[in-house]
Amino acid sequence: MIIVLVFIAACQVQSFPEDHEQLSEDERIVIRFSHVVGEDTPKGLASRKFAELVEEKTDGYVEVQVFPNSFLYKDGEEIEALLEGDVQMLAPSTSKITEWVPEWKVIDLPFAFRNEEELHDYLNSSAGKILENKLVQKGFYPLAFWENGFKQVTNNKNPLHYPEDFEGLNFRIMSSDVLKEQFELLGADAQTDSFDQVFPLLEQGVLNAQENTYSNIVSKNIHKVQSHLTVSNHGYLGYLVLINNDFWQGLSDEVQVVILDAMEEVTEWEKEKARELNKKEYEYLQECRCIEIHELSDSEKIIWEDVLNPLYDSFSEMYGKQYIDYLPKFQNE
Ligand code: LMR
Repeated sequence: MIIVLVFIAACQVQSFPEDHEQLSEDERIVIRFSHVVGEDTPKGLASRKFAELVEEKTDGYVEVQVFPNSFLYKDGEEIEALLEGDVQMLAPSTSKITEWVPEWKVIDLPFAFRNEEELHDYLNSSAGKILENKLVQKGFYPLAFWENGFKQVTNNKNPLHYPEDFEGLNFRIMSSDVLKEQFELLGADAQTDSFDQVFPLLEQGVLNAQENTYSNIVSKNIHKVQSHLTVSNHGYLGYLVLINNDFWQGLSDEVQVVILDAMEEVTEWEKEKARELNKKEYEYLQECRCIEIHELSDSEKIIWEDVLNPLYDSFSEMYGKQYIDYLPKFQNE
């Protein structure tokens, strides 16, 4: 997707100041990149790699400082910080941008995509382009889309196969009301909490269920405070790599080209890494004997889809049918 770019002659001679090791922070370009996950996750690894590449390609003239693990800003704070210019880069999940651009909730619609290729086709469609432009209108410049993977549901009561199994569960969700309605339609409660609070809230029993990818589940030890995991692949978790638009427009063409070049390279790498890590953590969960794993069968999935279908109608009514029409599942109709 996303690389709305400025085509600048690739052969442009780059002219970064020499001797930048001697330059102060004020004379170099410093990009503060904040995120909420651990360093050993797809986003954590990719942001570090991006910082290394940019530093290497500009000989240190552009420095990307990465702040992982909600160290600088948490969910609910970081996007505001980007718009205020307190940080320059973020990679929030698409669900978390919905407070600013609600149309991005389309990605949260349950069972909207069967695989990553379908998701990328959607992001490259006319609907995807409209979504991308809406980000720019709000002050975000989208540099890339990074993958994580499909979300699975966990809880500490019982296996989740049928809607009645959701009774009595209270899910932690990201800030998107499609996710809230999804669990309410299935018969559970749901509340938004920041990512750093998922483990403590589950451990203390304030909440008893959550949805996330294998890599996020294992990196935050969520499997240690949940007894059941259902492989549902019901929703997708991916990231918008955003830079503050005013900051971006203030960078020279040369610097923009290097950043985009590094981002393109890292985005390809991140995609592989995300798939590899989620596979590895799934295998780990299968072998660790620390959580019971259940598979959602095809017939059970049809029941979930029937229960969740009203979300598509309410989304269309609220934001327009064009976003729904471009979803791969409606393309052959
Ligand atoms: C979550 O809050 O569950 C995820 O968005 C965390 C992340 O950034 O992967």
